[in-house]
Amino acid sequence: MKPKTPRPILLKNYRPPAHLINKVDLDVELHPTRTRVRSRLSVRANPKARSKKAPLRLDGTHIELAEIKLNGKKLASTDYKLTDTSLTLIKTPAKPFTLEIVTFVNPEANKALQGLYRTNGVYCTQCEAEGFRRITYFLDRPDVLATFTVRIEANPEEAPVLLANGNLLERGLIVGGKRHYAVWHDPFPKPCYLFALVGGDLSSIASSFRTISGREVDLRIYIEHGKEERAAWAMDSLKRAMRWDEERFGREYDLEVFNVVAVSDFNMGAMENKGLNIFNDRLVLASPESATDTTFEAIESVVAHEYFHNWTGNRITCRDWFQLCLKEGLTVFRDQEFSGDERSETVQRILDVRRLKSLQFTEDAGPLAHPVRPESYIEINNFYTATVYEKGAELVRMIQTILGRENFRRGMDLYFNRHDGQAATVDEFIACFEDASGTNLTQFRLWYSQAGTPELVCSLRYDKAKRQANLDVEQLLPPTPDQPHKKPLHIPLKIGLLGGNGHDVALKLEDGKELDDGVLPITKRKQSFRFTNVPNRPVPSLLRGFSAPVNLTINLSDDDVAFLMANDADPFNCWQSANNFATRTLVENVRLLAKGKRASKGQLYAKALGEIVRNDTLEAAYRAELLRLPSSSDIARVISKNVDPTLIHRAHSQLASMIGRTLGSLLEAIYDEMAEDGPFSPDAESAGRRALRNGALTLLTARRTNRDLTRLSKHYFKASNMTDQAHALFLLSAHGGMERQRVLNDFYEHWKADNVVIDTWFAAQAHSPLAATLRQVKKLTKHPLFSLAAPNKVRALIGTFAMANPVQFNRPDGASYQFLADQVIALDRLNPQIAARMLSAFRSWRALETGRKAQARKALQRIAKAKGSSHDVQEIVSKILES
Ligand code: BES
Ligand code: ZN
Repeated sequence: MKPKTPRPILLKNYRPPAHLINKVDLDVELHPTRTRVRSRLSVRANPKARSKKAPLRLDGTHIELAEIKLNGKKLASTDYKLTDTSLTLIKTPAKPFTLEIVTFVNPEANKALQGLYRTNGVYCTQCEAEGFRRITYFLDRPDVLATFTVRIEANPEEAPVLLANGNLLERGLIVGGKRHYAVWHDPFPKPCYLFALVGGDLSSIASSFRTISGREVDLRIYIEHGKEERAAWAMDSLKRAMRWDEERFGREYDLEVFNVVAVSDFNMGAMENKGLNIFNDRLVLASPESATDTTFEAIESVVAHEYFHNWTGNRITCRDWFQLCLKEGLTVFRDQEFSGDERSETVQRILDVRRLKSLQFTEDAGPLAHPVRPESYIEINNFYTATVYEKGAELVRMIQTILGRENFRRGMDLYFNRHDGQAATVDEFIACFEDASGTNLTQFRLWYSQAGTPELVCSLRYDKAKRQANLDVEQLLPPTPDQPHKKPLHIPLKIGLLGGNGHDVALKLEDGKELDDGVLPITKRKQSFRFTNVPNRPVPSLLRGFSAPVNLTINLSDDDVAFLMANDADPFNCWQSANNFATRTLVENVRLLAKGKRASKGQLYAKALGEIVRNDTLEAAYRAELLRLPSSSDIARVISKNVDPTLIHRAHSQLASMIGRTLGSLLEAIYDEMAEDGPFSPDAESAGRRALRNGALTLLTARRTNRDLTRLSKHYFKASNMTDQAHALFLLSAHGGMERQRVLNDFYEHWKADNVVIDTWFAAQAHSPLAATLRQVKKLTKHPLFSLAAPNKVRALIGTFAMANPVQFNRPDGASYQFLADQVIALDRLNPQIAARMLSAFRSWRALETGRKAQARKALQRIAKAKGSSHDVQEIVSKILES
């Protein structure tokens, strides 16, 4: 039998629900394999529904129906129709009514980790996007908002902690003491995807926060026993995020308690359930010995992100899942702004742009390209993408750039006032900015519906006699799947013109107006801007601060790029120029290698880099970013056709080694100077010093002299924190030699009992470009600490190998592709959401050279033919293959 091809859900088919549920009472009796869920729903017809006579159809899947009562009367099986995914009443009362439903679920058997499941013995839920239907029959859609009261009952030894959304109403023992219970009430109407409950034997740390209006909020973070100290940073981050949202956006917290629970098995990073955030434990637990600076940073930003959802996502939610960027893009923008304020604004922008380009630009250039507001999906879990998140955040940022900060804030205030308590749309969001600022954003809206990364082709002409500089700008809009033709977009292009002394010249337009914010509104396919009163040929600094998510093309000489690196008043663009210089050097070297020549380019770049990195008045974190070469996948994206990952890898290592040799004494000096002084602190400045020192170490190590390898091994054994230790571990695992196994063994012996830290050990091996890596990764899938049912393990081993090791994943013999196919097929039987994510490692397969392309196709076809595969995997594999 052929599997049913799933039918896509379309944005244009959106209809308001025929019924509303305004009140839910849940009574959950926790049991490892047979949890009983009683639900009492207050249902009524939706006055805004188009059809008034539609029967009530509830979503439900993977659950066992035990009983159903309508207004207190038990229904017979002939009174409703049951399918694998729904329950429909045959006769639906016209007047408001009560429905009582009893279902049974099996948390222990739930390996998809959606709905109610168990992780390390802890009961927990994940309902976004459509997990609530795996707990009980319900209108599982975000535009149905209800107030929830939840009673949880459990064995007090198995689950002494019982949590749900909102405030605690009561708790107690049930006669006999064999069971206990807790009742929680959330006064804020919410869609069921924000429902959560937790039951387990957990420890916690507590603190409190006084809101701007003087209300005291209890804060608590629940973690595994013995991990209390490692939760302190998350708590600190939470309090800073709460304060920041008051100050920057005027948003105050609204419940008496805010709970965070860390669990080991979790499909995503974290989830914003109202008043009860649930986190992947790797994004809560951190101590200097166990977590890197990158982890500290990630914890700060994810804690903030989920907290910020309380307003952007929870108080105002999404009308339907096509509007996902309304909460995710906006909340990513908010967490980026938070991190920029807490740390260095420029470095934060560099990190965000790097991420955007490496994830979203890649997605946009391949078969999985889709608009920020998609118009169709088969499995919504497949649309929590870099496009919705990172590009979605860029669109909000562009609104801020176009309107200016003040008007932007006015628009946000209007949005919060106008739509509080509602399920809103992207269009309504934009309308708030139009209404608050008087700006027409009609053309800007196209950003939400058109996929693909625009290219801005720019050129500068200078007329010495007239003292005029002309900037010609053309926007090219490459076709994407289902969108062959596109309309021109409204692109805010922030620029500066550097005079010979390196300073910005005033931007006087022809009409005499001065462009004081430097932002040119690009709205046509082709446009020219004439600047007057320009004394000499200027060097253009374009797309300052990365003012729009576009690819920029402009013909500049190496000298111009070096000049911008050294002089640009916008520090982001200094970095961008350095990065451009490195990129063009690497691309040229790949070309030379492909012709069988030596990869000879790099001296000029290395020198220019030395000049700027030498400057110790710059922040250490910023200098560290300058030292980081573009990744192999960045280079592959730029090359875009006939990609040979082996050559890119070779060009990459050779350039690193050339820089290491050219700047040897500078890098050694930095390495010594940035050595730790005093106790560890996770703050941005200290982290920056460690990043700079480790960056120098990486380039020095690339020379591969004995002295360099000795330094590296010492770095590992002398490390007093995980940042240094993990950095050395990855480098040693990449470089091979005798030390490699010694260090891997040392790390394993030290951390094998730590479920979070040991993932670094798996990842360091999967990351290695050595030829034996595939063999080792295969062996590690059999390791007792590895499990396909644990998403963090899958991401650390298989994810790192497939997505962060281009040279070994893209072996010319296709063996790694076949390995990934095996893993995806096996994983799909347990956890389709994670299987589909791993599969996206193939998203750029068409850009590969012919031999690898043929190998990748074979592996993909095998996945496509696999029996019983999930909709999640089918959707991705068919898109990847069809393109
Ligand atoms: N709402 C999401 C979590 C989610 C995603 C649930 C997909 C169900 C399906 C949450 O707010 C989120 O975006 N988490 C991110 C981290 C964030 C900092 C970008 C994640 O989990 O990766
Ligand atoms: Zn989010």
